[in-house]
Amino acid sequence: MKVTVVGAGNVGATCADAIARWELANEVVLLDIKDGFAEGKALDIWQTSPINLFDTRPVGSTSDYSKTAGSDVVVITSGLPRKPGMSRDDLIATNAAIVKSVTENVVKSSPEAIIIVVSNPLDVMTYCAYLNSNFPSSRVFGMAGILDTARYRAFLAEALDVSPKDIQAVLMGGHGDTMVPLPRYTTVGGIPVTELIEKDKLDAIVERTKKGGGEIVNLLGTSAWYAPGTAAAQMVEAIVRDQRRVFPVCAWLDGEYGLKNIYLGIPVVLGKNGIERIIELQLDKDETELLHASAKAVREVMDVLDKMSVSA
Ligand code: LAC
Repeated sequence: MKVTVVGAGNVGATCADAIARWELANEVVLLDIKDGFAEGKALDIWQTSPINLFDTRPVGSTSDYSKTAGSDVVVITSGLPRKPGMSRDDLIATNAAIVKSVTENVVKSSPEAIIIVVSNPLDVMTYCAYLNSNFPSSRVFGMAGILDTARYRAFLAEALDVSPKDIQAVLMGGHGDTMVPLPRYTTVGGIPVTELIEKDKLDAIVERTKKGGGEIVNLLGTSAWYAPGTAAAQMVEAIVRDQRRVFPVCAWLDGEYGLKNIYLGIPVVLGKNGIERIIELQLDKDETELLHASAKAVREVMDVLDKMSVSA
């Protein structure tokens, strides 16, 4: 197995580090445009191998896609992160051009790869990669739901004073303030969360989750990396180990949930072919309304991309 991570910034390097630690591939290639940067990060990760006990080989590359040739999975993290006061959508002009050019290079060097997009604005950058790859949508999808549910689960674990391991949750919609955490589908050791926490506390956690990325941007002055990078690596793991894990993933909808021709977070089964299956839940009226409102917000940014010259 060979995995490439494009973008050796904080998110990309964290992702490559997790891929190496978990031995998800023989080789993990880290590529960046900044001279020597990916090589330096790859070398640093490699020097943890005797401590963390792995033999996955990290390889750095400055814009040389031939080193990424024949990758089974490619994670795209390239692009600018948010600064305080910015929404993810403010990044579209810069990041769309970057994601387009990265996707074209990835497709040339790894025509059979599965592409996982992490760049923001996530849903629309995934759409951008899809348009520019000409790959089937089962092989182009985005990482957001694992990160957003991880935040939601971490907040719940803290509030309930239980292990985050025992909290299962699903969340849908776009990777933005309109995301839709689903308390009805949240359990703690199999117990519905609504039986363990008061409604106002749960509502506050849902609200905090929706703004979870912004909370970190305000604290750090830039966006998060440990949780996003590790979440992307967990998707790589599901694919390269053909685990058929059930995760919320930013996927192309073709009529599911009454939505068509849009990338949006929904639960899927993830395995060696990428998205093996989309899971369609029975949402109630309120949940459906929230999901469709989120789809509307994503669609507006997709329309902006469609009007740009980078759309295909
Ligand atoms: C976040 C960014 C990576 O949610 O979108 O932290």
